[in-house]
Amino acid sequence: MADLKKSREYEASQKAITDPERPAFHVTGMTGWINDPNGFSTYKGEYHLFFQYHPFDVVWGPMHWGHVKTQDFVKWEFLPCAIAPDQPYDIEGCISGSAIEMKDGRQLLFYTGMTKDNLHPGHVEKKETLYQNHCIAIGDGIDFVKYEGNPNVLASTAPKGSWLEDFRDPKIWLEEDTYYAIMCSRPEDGSGQILLYKSEDALNWEYVSILAYNDEKLGKVWECPDLFELDGKYVLMVSPQEMESDGYEFHPGYNTIAFIGNYDKEQYKFNKEIYHSIDYGIDFYAPQTVKTFDGRRVMIAWMSNWDCTSFKDPGKHWFAQMTLPREIRVVDNHLIQNPVREIENYRTNKKCVQQTICGDKYSEDVSFEGIKGRYLDLTINVSPTKEDSYRKLDIKLAKDDKHYFYVSYNPEEDVIKVDRKYTGARMDVLHSREFKVRDQKGNLKIRFILDRNSVEMFINDGEQAATFVLYTPLEADGISLKTMGEANISIEQYELKSCEK
Ligand code: FRU
Repeated sequence: MADLKKSREYEASQKAITDPERPAFHVTGMTGWINDPNGFSTYKGEYHLFFQYHPFDVVWGPMHWGHVKTQDFVKWEFLPCAIAPDQPYDIEGCISGSAIEMKDGRQLLFYTGMTKDNLHPGHVEKKETLYQNHCIAIGDGIDFVKYEGNPNVLASTAPKGSWLEDFRDPKIWLEEDTYYAIMCSRPEDGSGQILLYKSEDALNWEYVSILAYNDEKLGKVWECPDLFELDGKYVLMVSPQEMESDGYEFHPGYNTIAFIGNYDKEQYKFNKEIYHSIDYGIDFYAPQTVKTFDGRRVMIAWMSNWDCTSFKDPGKHWFAQMTLPREIRVVDNHLIQNPVREIENYRTNKKCVQQTICGDKYSEDVSFEGIKGRYLDLTINVSPTKEDSYRKLDIKLAKDDKHYFYVSYNPEEDVIKVDRKYTGARMDVLHSREFKVRDQKGNLKIRFILDRNSVEMFINDGEQAATFVLYTPLEADGISLKTMGEANISIEQYELKSCEK
């Protein structure tokens, strides 16, 4: 049986290891494996983030909750592991959930306890079924005590026919003195549904409604839901499993979707108006948001994808990181996302380039004095010198003689293609993605955030984002461009100061 004390001792023993490969300003676990962000929340004037965590290995295992906190979303402080799967009702894992500062000032973790024991009288037990129920742990920012009433929201409280497995990932919020939570579940037909519960004290919960139902469309289970009001609309974010691809918008497998619409508080239903992918890269899953003290909505996600986790750098004692937190807005029924503004406090050493470049398929890549690095906030603008003056733009980052991370833009098709085939992976994991951008007659702006082994792209002031992990050796820090035809290029580069964790 897992033991929190042992887990904490183990991670403290690993803390001494300084890992030069750790990102400078992205959250990782102290050691071991991490996946979903959990409990991204405010508590006593700071931002706390918990996450799915297996301290003892670099693969998914009995899930603990790791814990960090921050004041500015860039510099994070490690805290000891928050909870371990050490009770009969969570013995197979303390899986995803959320956190909140309670009305009485205590910190509440609302998580999913996974067990093989059927705690639901009257239900036929299926051998080896992993039952999921919601549990609570209450604490003070560091230490948490599991509630004696656990498991306190049983999957059997869901509408008739709902599955007892796949009842997980509660996201809690407080509204006019009442706590609400949404969570994922499967109706009888095996597709996905988001359920809404409510509670006066955050301990005793009552089923309210099916907030949204996927009707066998857009994948199966919609994992890790989040619902919030933003810019006069409501946004429901989900991470569906088992999706089929759809044009340039969705790829096969795990995706993330933002539904934008309205929340009918009489019927407790979400009415969607439009939906789109949240991130068009490979490594982005299970996003969760927090409302900041100054009223912004900030989102963080796991910078990985279940289909890519088999590739790991041998010798590393940790696996995976979170994205840089992003400020999100709704503009014209579309989710806009940009790096948190606090990252700008870490900018240094500004360099700018403005140049017209002209090439053909035989031309050499063009590089620019001082434009290079692996910890960068880099913005590249391209525009035609006259109508249709260029047919293609290639950008290479993290480059040496053998490696590079490749982005190409075709202004005729309005498609961006990203390929990380040459970034040093020693396994045939997913390498490329293509996505459509708005037709702007060859004018394009991409902001890149580079932090050692990751690239996050923000297109046209956050209209779209695309996130990638790359494996390229750190010495590969070159950047070059090439066009087919003639284009004006402007580059603004800042180095990002590393912050001690
Ligand atoms: C999403 C997810 C959640 C679950 C957790 C387990 O990535 O599958 O639905 O709670 O990971 O680690």
